[in-house]
Amino acid sequence: MQGITMTGITKDFFGKLALQDVDITLKKGTVHAIVGENGAGKSTLMNILSGTLPPTTGEITVDGEKAVLRGPQDAAKYSIGMVYQHFMLVPTLTVWQNVILGSEPLKHGYTIDKSTAIDRITKTCETYGIDLNPERLVGDMTVGEQQRIEILKVLMRDAEYLILDEPTAVLTPQETEQLCDNIRALKKMGKTIIFISHKLEEVMDIADEITVLRLGRMIGTVPAKESTSERLVQMMVGRDVQLDGYPMAIEKGDVILHVENVCTERTQFSSGLQNISFDLQAGEVLGIAGVDGNGQTELVDAILGMTRISSGKVEKSGVNITGKSSSQIRNSGVALIPPDRHSQGLVLKNSILMNSVMGCEADKRFCQGGLLRRRGLMDTMPTVLQEYDVRMPSIEAKVSELSGGNQQKVILAREFGVRDSDLVIAVNPTRGLDIGAIEFVYKRLEEQKAAGKAVLLISTELTEIMRMSDRIAVFFKGRCMDIIPRDQADITRIGSLMMGIQEGGDRE
Ligand SMILES: Nc1ncnc2c1ncn2[C@@H]1O[C@H](COP(=O)(O)OP(=O)(O)OP(=O)(O)O)[C@@H](O)[C@H]1O
Ligand SMILES: [Mg+2]
Repeated sequence: MQGITMTGITKDFFGKLALQDVDITLKKGTVHAIVGENGAGKSTLMNILSGTLPPTTGEITVDGEKAVLRGPQDAAKYSIGMVYQHFMLVPTLTVWQNVILGSEPLKHGYTIDKSTAIDRITKTCETYGIDLNPERLVGDMTVGEQQRIEILKVLMRDAEYLILDEPTAVLTPQETEQLCDNIRALKKMGKTIIFISHKLEEVMDIADEITVLRLGRMIGTVPAKESTSERLVQMMVGRDVQLDGYPMAIEKGDVILHVENVCTERTQFSSGLQNISFDLQAGEVLGIAGVDGNGQTELVDAILGMTRISSGKVEKSGVNITGKSSSQIRNSGVALIPPDRHSQGLVLKNSILMNSVMGCEADKRFCQGGLLRRRGLMDTMPTVLQEYDVRMPSIEAKVSELSGGNQQKVILAREFGVRDSDLVIAVNPTRGLDIGAIEFVYKRLEEQKAAGKAVLLISTELTEIMRMSDRIAVFFKGRCMDIIPRDQADITRIGSLMMGIQEGGDRE
């Protein structure tokens, strides 16, 4: 048989079964999606197929032949390649240098043969319709472009089976469209693509078959054509989940955050902030909509004192915080769900417990006389983490042992459940979460709002912005195009503003 079978796959992590007796068949030349809640075992199953994790029991065959995969090199022999969510690229090198890293073609046996490398890359890009300039520096490229390099690397090793673990979680809608085009082209050339995603619309659009995992067990495989998102959600979560709706209406309080004519410097990679002004009141959610990279990170950095404000000012509860240090600002009561959980939100090698109180160590519940009390921690934190539905092996386990979505929930538990704040800054708070967990985060955000906090919600998901925000500010090239009350907002208008088009059709 052409294709891959995985039979009776079980994975035991120190007594905890991440996968139990999973059978899955991946047909050659198809796109096969794998969906399931956070922690269902999707990444674990794919790590087994790519040779990075050994299964506890189970058998794999590739094109009818029994395969023993002891490492990624073994997987490569069976033409299996994986594109990881965290790219392994060197930003100071060009595309072609990154692609050949480790398998450099040599001229006369010792100098690197650049022209051969570039020829091979150009040919592969042409064959599969991948848009990349081999001479460009990786550090200057968007996330979408960097992902294409990772795909190219796998293709240049002649992979027939490509595994993509949540490739669209980090992409803009436009980049997602382009990736889907690439995937369709690869399928036409006979490649098999295994694709993990939490976005069911996209899964149904691109996949031929969809396998649902739940709590480490295989629930079923359905043809994409015959599935609906309601049915998939039922299979994944066991109940219906409603994500659309309107923001909760409550009375607003005092102005908590006042941003006045804030400008930051333009750099080679950023247009900076150009005269940003807005007020955010207690009990209000202000959504910042925009394509990634249009000043959202700069705004967060400016408010939190991580970038210099060249003119203008920021006030929090009437106090000027412009020029203060970021720790002073955070300690004045700011909860933050950061854009990148790995570099900003968590210390991966530390325990779940320590991560869940990081930066809140002075909390009276577990700090006495300047010392962290284990007793206090153990009285408080297991309950908080349970409330936030963090599915973990044990509270002392390293945070790196959690699935991606559960890592995000640890941050939410700390920032909403532990930290004392009156301002919440949430950047893509539901990135990487399953649909049930997204519903849960929306409820928690509304609780924060109901408790009288001011919420700044920055998200590239327009549906999320529309669901949660009382007012919507649209950012384009570091400027605020407009601020629209939710009841006057429609997706088309916001979409146009996000592209820099003002009412009347003028493009900026
Ligand atoms: N290295 C590890 N050590 C111990 N347990 C682990 C390890 N890696 C994963 N697990 C556990 O295995 C289970 C499945 O995790 P996995 O990462 O496969 O989930 P997932 O379906 O990819 O979830 P997500 O959608 O959140 O990425 C989780 O309970 C997780 O805590
Ligand atoms: Mg995962």
